[in-house]
Amino acid sequence: MASIITLVRLLLLLLPVPLRKHLWPASHQAEDLAGAGELLHPIFMVPGVSCSDLEARLTEAYQPSIPSCGALKAKGWFGLYENSSDISEHHYHKCFEEQMSLVYDPIRNEYRNLASVETRVPYFGIVKGYHQKNPLGPKWCLTRLIEALEEMGYRDGDTMLGAPYDFRYAAPIPGQTSQFYSHYFKELMELVEATSEKHHKKVIIFGHSLGGMVILEFIRSTPLAWRDKYIKHLILVAPTLSTGFLSSVIYLASGPQGDLLYVPKATALSLRPMWRSFETSIINIPSTKAYGHKPIVITKQRNYSAYDMEDLLTDIGFEHAIEPFRRRVMPKMNYFKAPMVP
Ligand SMILES: *[C@@H]1O[C@H](CO)[C@@H](O)[C@H](O)[C@H]1NC(C)=O
Ligand SMILES: *[C@@H]1O[C@H](CO)[C@@H](O)[C@H](O)[C@H]1NC(C)=O
Repeated sequence: MASIITLVRLLLLLLPVPLRKHLWPASHQAEDLAGAGELLHPIFMVPGVSCSDLEARLTEAYQPSIPSCGALKAKGWFGLYENSSDISEHHYHKCFEEQMSLVYDPIRNEYRNLASVETRVPYFGIVKGYHQKNPLGPKWCLTRLIEALEEMGYRDGDTMLGAPYDFRYAAPIPGQTSQFYSHYFKELMELVEATSEKHHKKVIIFGHSLGGMVILEFIRSTPLAWRDKYIKHLILVAPTLSTGFLSSVIYLASGPQGDLLYVPKATALSLRPMWRSFETSIINIPSTKAYGHKPIVITKQRNYSAYDMEDLLTDIGFEHAIEPFRRRVMPKMNYFKAPMVP
C-alpha cells in the first residue's frame, strides 16, 4: 500500500503545479509529511551532462602549454568546472580547455586525463552538489523536480541522494574498462546498500539524459540478485542527449552548442577541440541499426548515412576518433540487455 502511495505521489509530480496542488492540497501534504519519512523509498537523482562539477589538481610535473596555465600547479584541488563565470573572470579559457581535455590511450583502450592533471567529482551523495553551469540558461539539472521532492518530504543526503559523475567519460558496458566508472560504480553500490539498509527500503534510481545512460550501465553492471534486493524502480527520462542522436553529429562537426558545455564568452567552435577529446562526444553517433541507409549528413559532394560515420569523422578532420569509435562505441550499439528491474 505504502508503495502505491509513493508511486501516486511520483506521478503527481509530473503534473503542472496548479493541478498538483489541487489534487494534493497543502493541508494534506503537511499531514502526509508527518509520516513521510517512513513511507518514502529513498531516491537517487542523476541529471544530465555538465550538471556535475569537476575539480582538478596539477602535479609538479605539469607542463602548461602557456606559462599562466601553471599558476595553480602544486596548489592542491581547485574547481575546474564548477562556477563557469570564474573561467572568464580569470581569463582561464585556454587553461580550462587544456586541463579538461582527455586523451585516448590505444594500449589500454581507455580515455584518461593529461599526464599530471588529476581530477575528481565533488559532492558524491548529495543533490545540492549539482550546478547548472549557465545560471541564466534553461534549468536542466532536475532543479524543479528536486524542489518538488523536497516538498513531498525528501531530504538531501538522507532520503534523496546525488551521484554526480565525470561526464567526459562514457559509462562502460561489460568487458570494457574505465578507471573512472569502475570506482564510481563501486561507490554507488555501497551508497545504495547503506541507504537501503538505513531506511529498510529498496531505492528508486532516477536518471535524466546522459545521467540516464550512466545509471543504466550501472544497473546492468550489478549482479541480478543485488538488483532484486536493492532496486525498487529505475526511471530513465530521455536517456540520451535530450536533443537526440543527430545533434551529436552537429556537435562533433561544429562544437558543443547552447548550454551543453557552457563556458561564458566561448564559441562552440572554440570549444570543439576540448569537446572532441571527451569520450562523451562520440557515444551518441547514430547507429546503423536505427538509421540504416538514410542520409544523415547531406553535402554538395556526398551524403553520409550511419554506415559512413568513419568517413565523416575523417572528412571533418577527426580521424583520431575512428579507433575509439570502433573499439568503445560500436560494441555498445549492439548491446541491448534489459536492466531487469521494475
Ligand atoms: C560565480 O563566480 C562569479 C564571478 O567569479 C561570482 O560573481 C558568483 O557569485 C559565483 N557564483 C556562485 C554561485 O558561487
Ligand atoms: C543526398 O540526399 C538527398 C536527399 O535524400 C538527395 O536529394 C541528393 O541527391 C543526395 N546527394 C547525393 C550526392 O547523393
